[in-house]
Amino acid sequence: MISVRVPATSANLGPGFDAVGLALSLSTRISLDRSPEPVVEVRGTGVDLIPHGPEHPAYRAARFVAEMVDESDAHFHLIQDNSIPPARGLGGSAAALVGGAVAANDLLGRALAAPDLLNLVCELDGHPDNAAPALLGGLVIGTLTPEGISSVRLEPRNLKVAVAVPDFAVSTTAARRALPEKVPHRDAVFNVGRSGLLLGALATGEYHLLRVAMQDRLHQPYRSHLVPGLESVIEAALAQGAYGASLSGSGPTVLAFTPERRASRIAAAMREAFEESGVEAKAWALDVDLTGARVEPPEGVPSPGLAPVT
Ligand code: HSE
Repeated sequence: MISVRVPATSANLGPGFDAVGLALSLSTRISLDRSPEPVVEVRGTGVDLIPHGPEHPAYRAARFVAEMVDESDAHFHLIQDNSIPPARGLGGSAAALVGGAVAANDLLGRALAAPDLLNLVCELDGHPDNAAPALLGGLVIGTLTPEGISSVRLEPRNLKVAVAVPDFAVSTTAARRALPEKVPHRDAVFNVGRSGLLLGALATGEYHLLRVAMQDRLHQPYRSHLVPGLESVIEAALAQGAYGASLSGSGPTVLAFTPERRASRIAAAMREAFEESGVEAKAWALDVDLTGARVEPPEGVPSPGLAPVT
């Protein structure tokens, strides 16, 4: 059996809609072996929200890899040990998909090279901002082209990531349906400037720029009705000294970049702001994951969870 650990991810980071994503220190583990028929077991966080059959994203990715390497008759026994809250904007299904693809490639003789795997997981997920950082770790800016993904990877330093995770789910499909067909040109210009600033700030360490650089007009305003308390959670994070804050992916989690020593206090303030809006939430002070998907020995113990900030 091959086991692959894959990090959670936060996509968009404010203005970088469908293009920018960051790997975080929560993870899921996908273990895979050949089997005469499909078997899918899910353990850990959010098992009720994760498919238990061949429609599981990791299973679908594993089957996709099998087709690509001319093993279309292959079936698998798949086990997921999960610590990523699903349907919360933390890239849970992208992590599973990446785990399934990497594990299947390993199990079937590593016929796919790293760039093929990157293109495959980004295409399967439909956009690169969760799948690419889940595979590669760090911060990835990527865009899909007819020739495949064009991407750059950065390693932000001396930065913590506070997340407040509400106790309700938002499906990415529903959150994408909330988006308009067209946006005003001035809003596109607003985001071009902010996303350039965001990447410059994260590349150079000029984190004081993140307060402005994480503002967005392409998706967050259209999704805020799905996340009661969003604005006050962002304000609470900034008031406690966060560099910047935004919706994580399509929500409902809110993410803040913080100085290392203030991360726990900021995470707790974000959770309290959710609770003042009537939303139960958990909060974590996370690190940036710089490793991405990695093959692990299958020792059979559940993936380590991280205690939330109290
Ligand atoms: N960029 C995607 C979206 C991320 O915002 O819809 C989904 O996690």
